[in-house]
Amino acid sequence: MVLPDSHHKAGTVKNMFGRIAGRYDLMNRLMTFGRDKAWHREVVQRAALPKGARLLDIGSGTGGIVCAALDRNPDLLAVAADFTFAMMAAGRKRHHGRTIHWCGADALALPFGDNRFDAVTSGYLIRNVTDIRQAFEEQVRVLRPGGKVVCLDTSPPPPGLLQPFIKVYLQSAIPLAGSLISGDTYAYRYLPESTQNFHPPEKLQRLMRAAGLQQVGFRRLMFGTVVILHGTKPRGTSP
Ligand SMILES: C[S@@+](CC[C@H](N)C(=O)[O-])C[C@H]1O[C@@H](n2cnc3c(N)ncnc32)[C@H](O)[C@@H]1O
Repeated sequence: MVLPDSHHKAGTVKNMFGRIAGRYDLMNRLMTFGRDKAWHREVVQRAALPKGARLLDIGSGTGGIVCAALDRNPDLLAVAADFTFAMMAAGRKRHHGRTIHWCGADALALPFGDNRFDAVTSGYLIRNVTDIRQAFEEQVRVLRPGGKVVCLDTSPPPPGLLQPFIKVYLQSAIPLAGSLISGDTYAYRYLPESTQNFHPPEKLQRLMRAAGLQQVGFRRLMFGTVVILHGTKPRGTSP
């Protein structure tokens, strides 16, 4: 078992992403069989951003979601926020020349006022935070009424014929590829373990509703091992 206890989780997660930042995008491309960009595009599409909108992507890492958003809607104000500076530094280097506002921030205490953004997105953040409900509450707080929260994450493999194959992939193939490519066996054992021990989308949906979102729904991808959840902040809510 490599999962850290909740007391040490934030520090462990920050150090881990700091170590793998340089190879993160390459590993992601391989692990998702090249689907990572398409999923980022779907997150952006579900965020339903109007022209000139303000987008916050929290746990932005190297900025894949904000880049997908800027490709679709170049006049966005796009804020990419993360608590691991090495991930943002890798993204800044990679996406040099793009108008991205990089910002150091903790998802559990966002440094923004209420109702500031038209949408708040995240990719593979929620599995890593110590308090999921608080993370969603913070996203709702900074979101304007009527705006969308869209959350992409991995999900425990659902029961079925493919489950044994998915488990082999998660428990053997990913740690092996991770140690060969990034040199960090711990990080790529943490990923499958945190995925298998994570909440199913139905539970995340309940947490999103409890944080104040409405019209909450989700779509499973990649044989149910990836999920995109979305919800809307009701109009007439304050903050
Ligand atoms: C797996 S990476 C995802 C990067 C990117 N969103 C993507 O879709 O590829 C998760 C990111 O979440 C960040 N993260 C985890 N917990 C966080 C927190 N409490 N506050 C801010 N960022 C956090 C990590 O630093 C890391 O960069």
